Amino acid sequence: MMRGLANKVGIVAGGGRGIGAATAKRLGAEGAHVVIGDIEDEWAIKVAAEIEAEGGKALGVHLDGTSAESQQAIVSAAVEHFGGLDFYHSNLAGGTVGDNHALDCSLEVLEKSFAINAKSHFIATQEALPVMLERGGGAMIYTSSGAASAGSPWQVAYPMTKNAIHALARHVAAKWGKEGMRANVICPGVVLTEAVQIHMTDEQVEQALQRVPHKRLGDPGDIAAAIAFLASDDGAWINGQVWHVNGGSQMRD
Ligand SMILES: NC(=O)c1ccc[n+]([C@@H]2O[C@H](COP(=O)([O-])OP(=O)(O)OC[C@H]3O[C@@H](n4cnc5c(N)ncnc54)[C@H](O)[C@@H]3O)[C@@H](O)[C@H]2O)c1
Repeated sequence: MMRGLANKVGIVAGGGRGIGAATAKRLGAEGAHVVIGDIEDEWAIKVAAEIEAEGGKALGVHLDGTSAESQQAIVSAAVEHFGGLDFYHSNLAGGTVGDNHALDCSLEVLEKSFAINAKSHFIATQEALPVMLERGGGAMIYTSSGAASAGSPWQVAYPMTKNAIHALARHVAAKWGKEGMRANVICPGVVLTEAVQIHMTDEQVEQALQRVPHKRLGDPGDIAAAIAFLASDDGAWINGQVWHVNGGSQMRD
C-alpha cells in the first residue's frame, strides 16, 4: 500500500478504459475515492461499478474534457459525493486521425488535437486547482507520451500537444508549490491498451518490443502504479517532473 491514499478523493479524466481505467482501479484498491469521467459515459460507469464490487468507493460520470462546463461538473461531483478533491489525473487523449507530418496535417486536425490533448488539461487545471488550494493543496498528474520526445517523422500535432502539457505542469508546480500543490507528468512508452492494439499489427508490436530493453511491452498497471505513487504521500517531494515509464525504450535525464 502507498502512504496517504486511503480516503483521499481523486478524479481520473479519460478513465473509461486503458491506462485511465487501470489507474482508477489501482487508486480504488488503495482506498482512494475515485470519480471517473469519460466521454463514453457507460465505460466510466462500468469502471466505477467494478471498483465498488471490489469494496472501493467510486463514481462514474460523463465528461467532455474540452468543455469548461463539463470539467466544472466533474469537480463538483467529487466535492458533492466525496467532500472535496485531493488529486486530479488528467489522462484523456484522442483526435489523431489525419495527424500526419507537418505538410500533411490540416489546421482543423491541428486545432482538434490541441483542443483534446492540450486545452482539456488546461481547463482541468483551471477547474480543479481552486478546490484543491482551498484545502491546502493536492496533486495534478498529467498523462503525456514518449512521443513528446521521440522526434517522430510521421506525426506532428500529438507530440506538440504533449510537450505543451509538460510546460503546464511545470507552471503549476512553480506557481503553487508553496501552497501545497504538486504537478507532474507521466510519459508512457508503448502500453498494450485496447486503443493501441486496434492500431498496431502483430508485426508492429514485435518491432516495438525489439526497441525496448525489457522482456515485454507495457501493461496499463505499470502506468497506474506510477500515477498512484505521484498521487500518494510517498510522492510528496516530487514536483514539476516529467517521468518516462517505458521499460527503458527512451533513457532520459
Ligand atoms: N497506450 C499507450 O501506448 C500510450 C503511450 C503513450 C501515451 N499514452 C497516453 O496515455 C493516455 C491513455 O491512453 P490509452 O492507451 O489508455 O488510450 P484510450 O483511448 O483507451 O484512453 C483515452 C480515454 O479518454 C477518453 N476521451 C477521449 N476524448 C475525451 C474527451 N474529450 N473527454 C473525456 N474523455 C475523453 C476516451 O474515451 C478513452 O476512454 C493518453 O493520454 C495517451 O495519449 C498512451
